Amino acid sequence: MLNVLGQPGTVLALGGSSEIAQAFLGRLLESRACDVVLAARPSARRDAAVRRLEGYGARVEPVDVDAADSEGLVAALRTALAGHEVDLAVIAHGVLPDEGALGRRPADAADVVAVNLGSAVAAGLLLADLMRRQGHGVLVVLSSVAAVRPRASNAVYGATKAGLDAFFTALRDRLRGSGVRVVVVRPGFVRTRMTAGRAPAPFAVDADDVARAVLAGLDRDVVWVPAVLGPLTAALRLVPGPVWRRLDRRSVRDGGTVRPGAAPRRGGDRR
Ligand SMILES: NC(=O)c1ccc[n+]([C@@H]2O[C@H](COP(=O)([O-])OP(=O)(O)OC[C@H]3O[C@@H](n4cnc5c(N)ncnc54)[C@H](OP(=O)(O)O)[C@@H]3O)[C@@H](O)[C@H]2O)c1
Repeated sequence: MLNVLGQPGTVLALGGSSEIAQAFLGRLLESRACDVVLAARPSARRDAAVRRLEGYGARVEPVDVDAADSEGLVAALRTALAGHEVDLAVIAHGVLPDEGALGRRPADAADVVAVNLGSAVAAGLLLADLMRRQGHGVLVVLSSVAAVRPRASNAVYGATKAGLDAFFTALRDRLRGSGVRVVVVRPGFVRTRMTAGRAPAPFAVDADDVARAVLAGLDRDVVWVPAVLGPLTAALRLVPGPVWRRLDRRSVRDGGTVRPGAAPRRGGDRR
């Protein structure tokens, strides 16, 4: 159960400065009033995100977190959420690394895993415990279609999303009957600053398409964006290895990796 109106009262957005989180929060605030706890690294982008959400009449509390530091992140969330009931939480932070560069600096891959997977799992456990004690709540996590079958060209990113997806799917089962729901969102290619400089994959969508699909799917276990990726991915899962590898090589040739001249995004990038 959410509040007496069946609407979320307090919403936590981890990675609240992300384009997808911003689009979702905007759509949510258009449809209902709520307070927002916006957890993200301090930056001009986060300040702008706070102002934008305040423009909807929301009370917005920014919280400093760095997903590379899970211990600090958990402590900051604990402090910020003390005394709050969190009706809805969105975990939306993440980095899409330049996989070629990681091959040359393998230790950086561990940072990507810490940001995309480690911190999200830590936050998920904290929020699950908080919501279970409340007896209600919806936990939304941004996985990816890449989680279903990581490709050679996105092995690190795909592995982090596969781990994230598996963890939150199992967490959903753990929380069954507690009043807490977990929604795993699996978008395909979304045109945001994360994918800037990459050629759009088939079925590419905008952040607002993800926002609308998530808002409409808060009572579902899994939200594919666009919806066609659900059945399509089920079929792709069965494609034999040699064909899968050929498809991946073709997508790389067609621009699926960072184009020359486009700056790759890494965990520490602050654009
Ligand atoms: N775009 C796509 O095609 C796509 C597809 C499937 C899934 N997703 C997932 O959707 C989510 C949102 O992505 P987006 O497309 O909206 O990209 P985005 O705008 O680049 O958002 C990425 C977010 O991650 C945050 N972040 C990165 N490193 C961090 C760190 N060390 N500590 C705290 N926050 C950190 C960024 O914060 P700063 O503002 O501080 O940089 C930003 O808020 C991600 O989990 C992504 O993997 C995206």
